[in-house]
Amino acid sequence: MAADADQPAVALDPGGPLPLLGLGTWQMTGGRCQAAVRHALEVGYRHLDTATMYRNERDVGRAIRDSGVPREQVFVTTKLPPGDAGRERRTLDNSLRALGMDYLDLWLVHWPPPARLLVSTWKELLAARDQGLVRAVGVSNYSTAQLDELTAATGEAPQVNQIPWAPALYDAAVADAHRQRGVALEGYSPFKNTDLGHPVLAEIAAHHRVTPAQVVLRWHLDHQVVVIPKSATPERITANFDVFGFSLTDEELARIDGLSIS
Ligand SMILES: NC(=O)c1ccc[n+]([C@@H]2O[C@H](COP(=O)([O-])OP(=O)(O)OC[C@H]3O[C@@H](n4cnc5c(N)ncnc54)[C@H](OP(=O)(O)O)[C@@H]3O)[C@@H](O)[C@H]2O)c1
Repeated sequence: MAADADQPAVALDPGGPLPLLGLGTWQMTGGRCQAAVRHALEVGYRHLDTATMYRNERDVGRAIRDSGVPREQVFVTTKLPPGDAGRERRTLDNSLRALGMDYLDLWLVHWPPPARLLVSTWKELLAARDQGLVRAVGVSNYSTAQLDELTAATGEAPQVNQIPWAPALYDAAVADAHRQRGVALEGYSPFKNTDLGHPVLAEIAAHHRVTPAQVVLRWHLDHQVVVIPKSATPERITANFDVFGFSLTDEELARIDGLSIS
């Protein structure tokens, strides 16, 4: 449950600290995925993001065991495919078996299921949490209205909403809506939606003697937004974690907010 105390994290209650920086694992399977996760753990990552749909839970679990890092020091997220609404518990059992774990740190609904199943699926996640199989529960790709529908029906808001987020996607109203509801905003695809050659990123990067990619990650951290960059390249995995030695000024943050894609 506990992440490395030195890393910035969002306090989930219930649940443990969710490190603001994690490794995304989409589009990596087999030995490539295992090597990337092992390397990430070696350089200090303590947060891994997988999903049933990524077909790599087995690789992620094996890499954690092979790394020698104790299970309780790694924050592990996986996600329920919306097509598995109605058989949530079976899917969770399969995820735990594939990961080789007896609990998850965070279980998300990957995409909203059909409207008639929205609340029943959420209730199943809450039940799994109450049974101790998962420490925290949330959703992904949900609108504010869908978050509110779950809260109205159960009295419990999702603890996390994982959505696309990047400078070009920045939306202060969306960030505020999450903050007001106590829902942690977790961003995905930080690079795919960014022009890393943008002159504003280049200028700020040069000023801090870092790369534009590191500026993008630091921008998330300074906004208290969780970010989960994916890389299969050891040098990039290392560099993406090397973002704790500098921070952006309010003026720099404002220049990056809403940066155009090209
Ligand atoms: N909930 C959802 O619906 C959802 C959807 C999409 C993603 N996600 C999660 O979010 C994670 C991240 O998103 P993503 O995988 O879509 O995209 P991303 O992290 O924005 O981008 C990954 C791409 O960027 C490259 N890259 C990594 N570090 C780099 C660097 N320092 N400089 C330049 N390029 C770099 C990677 O290349 P190499 O691998 O070749 O190094 C890869 O091609 C996913 O892995 C997944 O865990 C969730």
